[in-house]
Amino acid sequence: MTAPATKTVRSDGDKQSGANVRRGGRNFMIAFYAALRAIKLYPLEHSAVQRTLAELAQVAEELRAEEGELEFRISGEFIFLNETRLRLDLSNYATFGHILTLCKLAGIGAIHVGTKGAARDWTLLLSLLGAETKSSPAERFKEIVSRLKEAKIETFQLDAPAETASDKEFNEEAKAAANRTYSQSVAVTKDVINSVRIGKTPNIRKIKRVVQGIVDQVLNEETSLIGLTAIRDYDEYTFTHSVNVCIFSIALGRRLGMTKLQLYELGLAALMHDIGKSRVPLDLLQKTGELTDEEWKWMAAHPWLGVLVLFQFRRQQEELSYRAMTVCQEHHMKVDLTGYPKCNRPRQVSLLSKIVSIADGYDAATSRRVYKTEALAPSAVLEEMRDNPRRGLDPVLVKAFINLLGIYPVGTLVVLDTFELAVVSAANPNPESLSRPIVKIISDAQGNRIAPPLQVDLAVPEAGGQYARTIIKTADPDRYGVTPGDYLI
Ligand SMILES: [Fe+2]
Ligand SMILES: [Fe+2]
Repeated sequence: MTAPATKTVRSDGDKQSGANVRRGGRNFMIAFYAALRAIKLYPLEHSAVQRTLAELAQVAEELRAEEGELEFRISGEFIFLNETRLRLDLSNYATFGHILTLCKLAGIGAIHVGTKGAARDWTLLLSLLGAETKSSPAERFKEIVSRLKEAKIETFQLDAPAETASDKEFNEEAKAAANRTYSQSVAVTKDVINSVRIGKTPNIRKIKRVVQGIVDQVLNEETSLIGLTAIRDYDEYTFTHSVNVCIFSIALGRRLGMTKLQLYELGLAALMHDIGKSRVPLDLLQKTGELTDEEWKWMAAHPWLGVLVLFQFRRQQEELSYRAMTVCQEHHMKVDLTGYPKCNRPRQVSLLSKIVSIADGYDAATSRRVYKTEALAPSAVLEEMRDNPRRGLDPVLVKAFINLLGIYPVGTLVVLDTFELAVVSAANPNPESLSRPIVKIISDAQGNRIAPPLQVDLAVPEAGGQYARTIIKTADPDRYGVTPGDYLI
């Protein structure tokens, strides 16, 4: 399968200007954030406030002069500067998340900077944006517009949120790209596992390309791909499991600040972590009842069988790193070494193995499989991973993993205090709103299905600062006859 060419072919000049806007945009966001922080921490006349605001005014003016215009717009979880989307990465994650949340709470969809803005103009806008009030976003929007008008500030034109046709197209394209990456990855993984099973050596270059595709996708836009992991296919468990573990590991590695190269290596190791299972008889992998001692020995051998498989790959010029072998060997070992295979000497489980163990444990527990028809609710699994020391996971990494997925991960079915039923569709980018994800409401209080589902951001309050909806508990999709994955595509 080859990926279709992207729709728009940009000239080199366009590309160059896109890169310039992104760079300028990042500086603008950093200056914006620094000024917001300074206003929150110090009185307005403080030199830190004055300095950061002067810097913001200057950065904005330079960008406006260079680009001919300056429009800062948010659409869903994306931030655009003029027509260019700013990329989220580890260094700007908190900055972007904070500004995104403030704009949403203030009911602002776009800020158009029309004329040269003085530091004084920015001061008022940012003070209004950062103020804590109990008004709803719609009320706050009106309030901010009228306060700017009263102060005779004409630098900014504010718009309420509106999804434009190009935003919609962009969101659709992002989803389609994530779908393509996911299905290609599953197809290649299937090919690899089946090849090894019949004694053929798979093409390592192909595997590496898959991992690169996932890394690029996660770096570009984390949420779409993570959303896809929730569409767990019962028949394809072995293959989707490897791909899901790869996605979760890369996303977690990214949060930990790993470089792109480190993420490739981690992703490769994660994708191959269970390759040893292709040396375990199929009927044993699919067995529904309890395993006999002899059978369990086979199963427990998959870590080192995996090391042997990877070792055989080394005949090819494109070899897999020894780190991938270490992950194969260690992913069931547990940090206190109480897992398997047993090791006689004390050792430190490697960081990559610790990450893969978390991704592996989470995906295995939330999937339904041949011998385990019930999948646990994702939130219950996270809680167990955090609270049960016998799981042998690294507590700090589990914490980071929960921060990544939110308390209610994508695909969780939840009951709201309005007695509506909803499926979590994205984690809230603001770490302070972990329990208030973005959900799709699928049925009303009386249990009538809502089609198409209504998407709401639970972190946005209504008038009076009250939240219209809050999650009260998670629910079992089987009991309600719901397949959460259906709402995520
Ligand atoms: Fe395993
Ligand atoms: Fe696994």
